[in-house]
Amino acid sequence: MGDSEGDLLNSPPMEKLGAGGYLSVWKDYGVYGIVGAVVVGILIPLVLSSVFMGKKKEKQRGVPVQVGGEAGYAVRNAQASELVEVPWEGATTMAALFEQSCKKNSQYNFLGTRKLISKEFITASDGRKFEKLHLGDYEWQTYGEIFDRACNFASGLVRLGHNLDSRAAIFSDTRPEWFIALQGCFRQNITVVTIYASLGEDALIHSLNETQVSTLICESKQLKKLAAISSGLESVQNIIYFEDDGTENDISVSGSMSNWTVSAFSDVEKLGKTSPVHPSLPSKNGNAVVMYTSGSTGLPKGVMITHGNIVATAAAVMMVVPNIRRSDIYLAYLPLAHVFELAAESVMLAAGCSMGYGSTLTLTDTSNKIKKGTKGDASVLKPTIMTAVPAILDRVRDGVLKKVEEKGGSAKNLFNIAYKRRLSAVEGSWLGAWGLERMLWDVLVFKRIRALLGGGLRFMLCGGAPLSADSQRFINICMGAPIGQAYGLTETFAGATFSEFDDTTVGRVGPPAPCCYIKLVSWEEGGYKSTDKPMPRGEIVVGGFSVTAGYYKNQEKTNEAYKVDEKGMRWFYTGDIGQFHPDGCLEIIDRKKDIVKLQHGEYVSLGKVEAALSTSNYVDNIMLHADPFHNYCVALVVPSHQALEKWAQQAGINYRDFSELCDKAETVSEVQQSLSKAAKTAKLDKFETPAKIKLLPEAWTPESGLVTAAFKIKREQLKAKFKDELQKLYG
Ligand SMILES: *[C@@H]1O[C@H](CO)[C@@H](O)[C@H](O)[C@H]1NC(C)=O
Ligand SMILES: *[C@@H]1O[C@H](CO)[C@@H](O)[C@H](O)[C@H]1NC(C)=O
Ligand SMILES: *[C@@H]1O[C@H](CO)[C@@H](O)[C@H](O)[C@H]1NC(C)=O
Repeated sequence: MGDSEGDLLNSPPMEKLGAGGYLSVWKDYGVYGIVGAVVVGILIPLVLSSVFMGKKKEKQRGVPVQVGGEAGYAVRNAQASELVEVPWEGATTMAALFEQSCKKNSQYNFLGTRKLISKEFITASDGRKFEKLHLGDYEWQTYGEIFDRACNFASGLVRLGHNLDSRAAIFSDTRPEWFIALQGCFRQNITVVTIYASLGEDALIHSLNETQVSTLICESKQLKKLAAISSGLESVQNIIYFEDDGTENDISVSGSMSNWTVSAFSDVEKLGKTSPVHPSLPSKNGNAVVMYTSGSTGLPKGVMITHGNIVATAAAVMMVVPNIRRSDIYLAYLPLAHVFELAAESVMLAAGCSMGYGSTLTLTDTSNKIKKGTKGDASVLKPTIMTAVPAILDRVRDGVLKKVEEKGGSAKNLFNIAYKRRLSAVEGSWLGAWGLERMLWDVLVFKRIRALLGGGLRFMLCGGAPLSADSQRFINICMGAPIGQAYGLTETFAGATFSEFDDTTVGRVGPPAPCCYIKLVSWEEGGYKSTDKPMPRGEIVVGGFSVTAGYYKNQEKTNEAYKVDEKGMRWFYTGDIGQFHPDGCLEIIDRKKDIVKLQHGEYVSLGKVEAALSTSNYVDNIMLHADPFHNYCVALVVPSHQALEKWAQQAGINYRDFSELCDKAETVSEVQQSLSKAAKTAKLDKFETPAKIKLLPEAWTPESGLVTAAFKIKREQLKAKFKDELQKLYG
């Protein structure tokens, strides 16, 4: 969300999360299982619920509050009459939080990784090679050990000659050394620049140059790429690389790297260990991180995140996750260069949890890089807390459902009964969640699905993009874990709103996080007012301790999006449109910049219409286009292969390939009718419904640059690529 919206995933090949063959076990229960399940599961609760019938009382989660700045409707978290700023007294910076937590938890496990046992290549029938890994158990280092390593690295950086007035950058996938390097830099008051690993070369050069980075910390596999662009990296003097497990680490320094001092991470640690340097600790308002994320347009902007921002979000999330504690195990696998993962790991550090590192490619037993018959990260680690982005959860759901469909027969029936029963329990009264029935379904059905993610999950944090109601329910039921949905942006260091674990509604993002206020400011042009009934609506504006210091070397953009009120509180204008429910929970309903005014003066909200039209099962992806010089909209549609081919077969349409099918007038007309139906259901106006459409046979992928890694469409890129098609639609 926001301009630097959630490019959360390193384009994870998400089918790899798919549900393997674990559903086959269901068959064994056969018909007796079902009969027993029906008796225990349906009849007993029915009798009981008629005895105890009572209505759930609605809990107040956010309350209106008087605040400074621009007029609007403001809400605070119901638990925090004063905004929380620190997780505990004295933890005012990340450096202080790290040191104090490491001292407190010194002999407990902190960071864990899996040792590589063997690696092999498998050649597919089409000749492509796939790497398959056999990974061992997690090996742990304690809080005390990690603290020492961060101190050593900090000293080593100084001994290496890093200029303490310049910045260091980390450009790497998520791994323990990333976190250690970050904490090491903080101990010398060095600002760390983070760059999202999937950003292109231009963005990388731009970010490093804009921040004048002198030390670049990366993975050994990136050295070649960096050497190739070394002429653009004018400010870089030192390169520190993380060594790889199981590969030769003798790095040949090529000619173009001759101006750089290239060192292995472990050598820098050794250097620091033999000649320690006093720490030079940062202050609360100092820049901890300059985070570059891709926006939907243009070059990436660097968001200046202070130490105070990070500890405030950590404090807020600790209040929201129920009873988070030392015994919790967290599976870390999303990109650390993204605010969501960095915030989550900061919370785990503050709570004294252990963090096992993994990756999207090795997450489950059936993940792509996991050697057949060996275990994925989740089944070895058995995490109690995980983060996820909607795209991943959608794939998990689709994978499980596909497997259920394939099994068919009694397994499918059992699943469907169980799912329906649990669904009505979750959506209905609390009584439905009643223990015995739930236990029964868990044993009969859901236990095997839960094993996919280790079986011990008790809480899931979800952020980055709106989660569909279906997926939220599915994870609630099948994984048996509540989902905390977070809404936030890099500019608010993730923390803006956070849904509570006992909130079973869908489609909302919860009350304001305890570290900030959320205000809705009227946007007259778009027709959203903070005085609207029954719910106040308007642009979402976030104020408080998690609001960052602005964009690096970009005062103009900073002034556009941030305002400081008369009391000195910083407010960030998100550009998202929201409404507050009576219980103080926020719902995101629109996006400001996606609104176009047509020739006759009607406003079209592109996002709203796209969401409505996407309910047609012919639509895989859609971009609505509105041109102020016309009085109607058009749309580019990527149709679902499966749905369209099924229709063509039934309608007796002959075609050579999918592309030809898309071009046929009958096909276009069929999809258009389906869109009109969807538009009617959503009560869209005529001018909002696309008058003409073009079907595009090729999917939009993050690799093609047409959608973000979180699969949100990139309008500018799509408009440029399909300029001719759009022109024809208006022709
Ligand atoms: C780096 O930034 C400076 C201005 O600060 C600019 O003159 C120079 O062209 C930039 N170099 C690259 C490689 O972008
Ligand atoms: C090394 O730096 C010098 C001066 O700073 C420059 O002239 C030279 O081109 C650089 N060499 C490489 C290989 O980048
Ligand atoms: C940390 O570094 C910044 C500049 O990089 C400086 O302004 C600030 O005073 C330093 N903080 C401390 C506590 O030395």
